[in-house]
Amino acid sequence: MLKGKKILLGITGSIAAYKSVFLVRLLVKAGAEVKVIMTEGAKDFVTPLTFATLSKNKVLSDLFDGDTWANHVMLGRWADAMIVAPASCNTIAKMANGTCDNLLLAIYLSSQAPVLIAPAMDEDMWHHPSTQKNVGTLQQNGNIFLPVNKGELASGLTGKGRMAEPEEIVKYLKGFFEKKNDLNGKIALVTAGPTYEAIDPVRFISNHSSGKMGVAIAEELYKRGAEVQLVLGPSTLLTNKGIKIKKVVSADEMYKACMKDLQSYDIIIMAAAVADYAPKTISPQKIKKKSEEFSLELKKTKDILFETGKRKSSGQTLVGFALETNNEKENAIKKLRHKKADLIVLNSTNDEGAGFGLDTNRITIFDKKGKEYKFPTKTKEEVAEDIVNTVIQYRNE
Ligand code: CTP
Repeated sequence: MLKGKKILLGITGSIAAYKSVFLVRLLVKAGAEVKVIMTEGAKDFVTPLTFATLSKNKVLSDLFDGDTWANHVMLGRWADAMIVAPASCNTIAKMANGTCDNLLLAIYLSSQAPVLIAPAMDEDMWHHPSTQKNVGTLQQNGNIFLPVNKGELASGLTGKGRMAEPEEIVKYLKGFFEKKNDLNGKIALVTAGPTYEAIDPVRFISNHSSGKMGVAIAEELYKRGAEVQLVLGPSTLLTNKGIKIKKVVSADEMYKACMKDLQSYDIIIMAAAVADYAPKTISPQKIKKKSEEFSLELKKTKDILFETGKRKSSGQTLVGFALETNNEKENAIKKLRHKKADLIVLNSTNDEGAGFGLDTNRITIFDKKGKEYKFPTKTKEEVAEDIVNTVIQYRNE
């Protein structure tokens, strides 16, 4: 799986740099071509000669080498993947903020390749809100973090912060390349977020959806090689640069965006929390408070999932969501049949760790052939992976 893969390995100033010596050996042994970039800080821990010998490539460190300029743009384009291991707290902060004061950062900023980050630092630094904020920013920008291990740290303390072992990084990378191609050539549509239904120029009806689940699904589909069109309701979430985003506000706008080119999609996942009702008329002026009581007349919005189910052709896989408070399974299956979806993802408000705005979710998926897939509480990224895996399995059956 790693044979012939071009890997850029960024090494930063951390004692864990010694582990990257083994990482280079394992990558080269697996058939990858490795180019190492070191920060100045990294050279205090391991010499460039060690990495140059093992990778059989010149180690790169400087934006300028004598009178030649290191072409960071071409290096970024050369790679199939970039790994930063170990990633120090300082480098993570600089990556998150777009700082460009060394070759590693210049390559990171110009790279089109997926970026994997293996952090290494003291536990308190890892847990610091600033570091966690930087990690969140980098994840939102589409970077992949390898989990830090628990154990003895350079400070002498025991805790979280150890860099993933070289064997773990190689295993992850193999899985990543294997997985990456399984939706190659496929086109996917994802809806996400809430919708805003205007009452007057300053007020609207909406719900608490953050869009996190749908965005995580769009990112997972993209990681697996699909071309992704995300139709996103009002949300502040950022996403991967490769995903096409159409921002919409109302249910009607979302409906129109989805119906456009509907037949071109292979996979359609509707995770948006679309408002079911919208004001019948939108007041052109701000409504003034006059009477003690005030009623709004609402009309049903177009059910996008239902309309898609009506139009869908046999090669298309349609996935809906059902958020239920009672008779969960029965209601979800009813929804699956009524909306002519292939699969329905059930969230129950009764499950701890599931719901709007949270970083975790707990789902059960039902398919139209009668199969049921139950999953434990997981992060929304992991749930997205489960959903995409189930869709692929369903399509292959
Ligand atoms: N949905 C949609 N368009 C709408 C309403 C819902 O596309 N106008 C989609 C959602 O994206 C989700 C699924 O339908 O995939 C389920 O939505 P939900 O609101 O839970 O179900 P409803 O059919 O609206 O039924 P109810 O509110 O009565 O539970």
